[in-house]
Amino acid sequence: MKKVGVLISGRGSNLQALIDAAAAGSLGGTIAVVVSNVASAAGLERARRAGVPVEVCDHRGRPREEHDAAVVERLGAHEVDLVCLAGYMRLLSPVFLRAFPDRVLNVHPSLLPAFPGKDAPRQAWEHGVKVSGATVHVVDEGLDAGPIVAQEAVPVLEEDGPDELAARILEAEHRIYPRAVRILLAGRFRREGRRLHLHG
Ligand code: GRF
Repeated sequence: MKKVGVLISGRGSNLQALIDAAAAGSLGGTIAVVVSNVASAAGLERARRAGVPVEVCDHRGRPREEHDAAVVERLGAHEVDLVCLAGYMRLLSPVFLRAFPDRVLNVHPSLLPAFPGKDAPRQAWEHGVKVSGATVHVVDEGLDAGPIVAQEAVPVLEEDGPDELAARILEAEHRIYPRAVRILLAGRFRREGRRLHLHG
């Protein structure tokens, strides 16, 4: 059984979607550990409730590389095959990415490459786009920049404010993230430059 490690900093609703998929047998693997850089992250409680081991690695007062090495060490101790960022509010250093080459995924609340960075649903709403959505991508050294695994479009409705839009995008995130993890774990893809060809 392949093993997934999930990194969080907060609420953990995407973590919950991954936990639910694993419980339903549709993730293609198990969640071996959840690591948070914030001790009070609500997502830690979701993990505990599901019986998933949790680790807290506080990043404060440490150089980025040192923090990343500590997280990599924790993930390695749980023999993780794939790392999922789920609301993890830290950029990853090369130390991290070298440990899991092409094996780190992130979910982002926009149709990348539009609106990378913080508050993407608000950015999209303020820009006045008519369609936004959610993206799962492989993490590289850029900000929300790596090869795209899955996307789902979400229409911007006339009555939407940024919060309503964000809430509907979040539902799309919860649909595409488990699916993307399943594809990666099964190795059902071929990479050509930054294009991922998916099969099955
Ligand atoms: C999600 O919108 C995700 O796309 C972004 O951070 C948010 C995390 O939400 N990277 P949650 O902690 O999974 O509920």
